[in-house]
Amino acid sequence: MLNDSTLKVQIGPSILNSDLSCLADECNNLVKNGADYLHLDVMDGHFVPNLTFGAPVVKSLRKNVGENVLFDMHMMVAEPEKWVQDMANAGADQYVFHYEASKDPNHCIRIVKEAGMKVGIAVKPKTPVSLVEEYADLVDVVLVMTVEPGFGGQKFMSDMMTKVSHLRSKFPKLDLEVDGGVSPTNVEQCYHAGANLIVCGSAITQNEDPAAVINQLKKEAEASFKF
Ligand code: DX5
Ligand code: ZN
Repeated sequence: MLNDSTLKVQIGPSILNSDLSCLADECNNLVKNGADYLHLDVMDGHFVPNLTFGAPVVKSLRKNVGENVLFDMHMMVAEPEKWVQDMANAGADQYVFHYEASKDPNHCIRIVKEAGMKVGIAVKPKTPVSLVEEYADLVDVVLVMTVEPGFGGQKFMSDMMTKVSHLRSKFPKLDLEVDGGVSPTNVEQCYHAGANLIVCGSAITQNEDPAAVINQLKKEAEASFKF
């Protein structure tokens, strides 16, 4: 879906490497510290070699985190169609599934919309971005992975920026999200390429001053985001 308004830069902290034993507190603190939305990483041990959480955890979080805070579900799962209704019922706002995991992306996009959520399509580093272009006008967001999905704290892959620039030149009004290894030291590259939704995990959650990191990520946009 195309936005009518100008693109807005937003910072979405990933909670993957935060203290999962008190996730609601972690989420609320991130919001207090300037998060614009929350990026929640769902992993099933099949699509990626790691396991996190599913709809029951999201449902509990929804009860304890302000309802105005957008839950951006990064579904690193096989058969993403399977969890759409559960996530919608749990209070998820945006459902981003992987192109590589779906047998029928058009169908998946349709059922996510029918379930009342915003929809996104994600590409792993080795997936050519040309493969998702045909869906760009149907989705709210395209997510370009800047690490191999599965773990937080990996090194940012700068060469993914050509994918972002390519999409930005073809789809000037589309929300473009980057995820993996993003930090204040490399976010300039993301903005320069045209990404406006910035997922950032360990650089925020492992820092003793998360608010300062979020602030730095926002400040950098003033200088480098020109779309
Ligand atoms: C990786 C996840 C990312 C990751 C971000 O598979 O999708 O959201 O947790 O964390 P950092 O910023 O630490 O790479
Ligand atoms: Zn993610």
